[in-house]
Amino acid sequence: MKKTFEEALHYRRAVRAYDAQKPIDTVIVKKCIEQATFAPSSSNMQLWEFHHIISKETNEKLAEYCFNQSAAKTAQEMIIIVVRKDLWKKRAQSNLQFLKNIFGEKPASEYSKREKFALNYYQKLIPFTYADFLGILGYLKYFTFWITGFFRPIYREVRAKDIRVVAHKSAALAAQTFMLGMAVEGYDTCPMEGIDSFRIKKLLNLPSEAEINMVISCGIRKPQGVTGPRFRIPFDEVYKQW
Ligand SMILES: Cc1cc2nc3c(=O)[nH]c(=O)nc-3n(C[C@H](O)[C@H](O)[C@H](O)COP(=O)(O)O)c2cc1C
Repeated sequence: MKKTFEEALHYRRAVRAYDAQKPIDTVIVKKCIEQATFAPSSSNMQLWEFHHIISKETNEKLAEYCFNQSAAKTAQEMIIIVVRKDLWKKRAQSNLQFLKNIFGEKPASEYSKREKFALNYYQKLIPFTYADFLGILGYLKYFTFWITGFFRPIYREVRAKDIRVVAHKSAALAAQTFMLGMAVEGYDTCPMEGIDSFRIKKLLNLPSEAEINMVISCGIRKPQGVTGPRFRIPFDEVYKQW
């Protein structure tokens, strides 16, 4: 029987050793990746890619680039979550096309106020936020907004480094959605950032602008794969009510 959310939440652990005798089904892993694409993303830009490594040889190479951590070395399959900030124009265009299909193709003057706002979001606001030139444009926007910010609340995440954070946040939400989906199936995972991102990018033939968000190893745990009880900072220390 599949696990409930509560059960999956407590079942999911960062597993460091998988059982070689217990294979996992690639189709189920792929389904969990598809579920991950339903994670929310900033402006619904979905600046992510999921590279599902099922070949034994590629997994071995990848484990080496994860410094041969046992979570990687014993994994049956691995997922590399890649941030593709460089695809922003393509993703904005896809969103725009989606909206036009929903609203129906018609002359610009016939769009309602709400429809115009949604279209302008991807036609104007997104290009304004994401467009940059050697990082200079981003800083120009940042300082203009900073001054405007003295007079009214304003969005400030417009430099290239801010947009990187924006894109990685969304990718990490997809990563967690994937891991919880796997837990529902009784499959185990370990998120890893102890990796050589440069070599992994080369392995996947990724362009220089692509960034590795994290690598997630997959399999079915050995009992010793969970290294100990779970530690969390006392809730009172991290929970602030205002
Ligand atoms: C972004 C990220 C990177 C991580 N990198 C590694 C890693 O390289 N190797 C590893 O063994 N665990 C890694 N972990 C797993 C954490 O150590 C683990 O999630 C944490 O200790 C809490 O344990 P739990 O996931 O079992 O609750 C990473 C976790 C996250 C979220």
